[in-house]
Amino acid sequence: MERNIIITGGAGFIGSHVVRLFVNKYPQYKIINLDKLTYAGNLANLKDIEDRPNYKFVKMDICDFDSVYKLMQDEHVDGIIHLAAESHVDRSIKDPFTFAQTNVMGTLSMLQAAKLYWESLPEKWEGKRFYHISTDEVYGALEMTHPNGIEPPFSTKASSGKHHLAYGELFFTEDLKYQPHSPYSAAKASSDHFVRAFHDTYGMPTIVTNCSNNYGPYQFPEKLIPLFINNIRHRKPLPVYGKGENVRDWLYVVDHARAIDTIFHNGKVAETYNIGGFNEWKNIDIIKVLINTVDRQLGRKEGEDMDLITYVTDRAGHDMRYAIDSTKLQKELGWEPSLQFEEGIELTVKWYLDNQEWMDNVTSGDYMKYYEDMYANR
Ligand code: NAD
Ligand code: DAU
Repeated sequence: MERNIIITGGAGFIGSHVVRLFVNKYPQYKIINLDKLTYAGNLANLKDIEDRPNYKFVKMDICDFDSVYKLMQDEHVDGIIHLAAESHVDRSIKDPFTFAQTNVMGTLSMLQAAKLYWESLPEKWEGKRFYHISTDEVYGALEMTHPNGIEPPFSTKASSGKHHLAYGELFFTEDLKYQPHSPYSAAKASSDHFVRAFHDTYGMPTIVTNCSNNYGPYQFPEKLIPLFINNIRHRKPLPVYGKGENVRDWLYVVDHARAIDTIFHNGKVAETYNIGGFNEWKNIDIIKVLINTVDRQLGRKEGEDMDLITYVTDRAGHDMRYAIDSTKLQKELGWEPSLQFEEGIELTVKWYLDNQEWMDNVTSGDYMKYYEDMYANR
């Protein structure tokens, strides 16, 4: 079957992996990457597929309603996978307006353009899909201590190849109420509500997914894992927020892209699916794994860079723990992560060490000023 799909934010971290997967796997589809190319968007992330006949890049702002609407008409778009967003919590604390503008108004612009275009067609919603990519942060923060006194991680690590949910009530499930804490997650929560409202009010065929922290190649180095890999390599301090005890649930980005593929094609309209790999880590533990892995891959003595760890002022409103229960997705659609965490981290460290030129390009200019300002006050 032929399809014409817009992927927004396709030049960013996760979006570039989704574009790559769709362009490679579905030569019969036309994949249109709609991206404004903010500081986080980088066409170098897609060098390997940029000349493919089923791929097209369009530089556009999702908030520019008229242009988005015209693009949908011109390209006869029947599917939208919406990833474009401002994505970094620390930036949202400094500049919440940009987050409301892009994440809320931008999503509304995409929804309204799709609604007007699809409603104008004789077949209307039939064969259409608006798939909105959201985050687990909309659910707020989880408890650190189980009523029985047990400390997280509550789920077994991916290395066992299995997981258990003995403490299931302490995970993010799809029916949890939204309790966002940061301007970033508040804006994402608002956009999720608009997507569901377009289904409930107009009948638009929508799907929302909420995923945990992603890691892997092409992530902008303001986020924990690429920032720390680069700092360890160059023996720069590693700014650990607070005591480093916050817990995050990590998923290899290609596995998120695989989940998006599965859900886009087989997910049920109006449903929500949580995506995660049952892989919780305290920040400080993951940082030690990163130091050991970078040291070993660079031929240094493992652990010799532990003294780079520098405890700094905590992030304002720092959510203590995230942990996704992705049982619904696994049971209903058969998706499972393909990589164990240990393999994913090896590949990720190797990729950043092998791609210093990519790192140098994205950390030059304005970014260095942002980075210096950000850490000067901590
Ligand atoms: P990213 O910051 O790496 O990329 C965002 C992309 O969106 C960039 O290419 C940027 O140029 C583009 N963009 C920003 N504003 C735009 C606008 N107004 N118009 C068009 N394009 C615009 O983000 P990411 O980490 O790849 O996250 C992608 C999506 O996945 C986001 O919606 C985010 O909320 C969600 N998400 C991210 C994670 C994660 O761990 N990174 C986890 C769960 C969900
Ligand atoms: O949970 C999904 C979310 O994961 C996505 O929706 C966001 O777009 C994505 O940015 C990510 O949010 P986090 O805030 O969890 O990711 P970040 O990499 O910024 O931070 C991970 C943890 O590490 C968090 O507890 C804060 C801490 N941290 C981060 C940085 C950048 C530090 O201790 N020091 C740092 O310098």
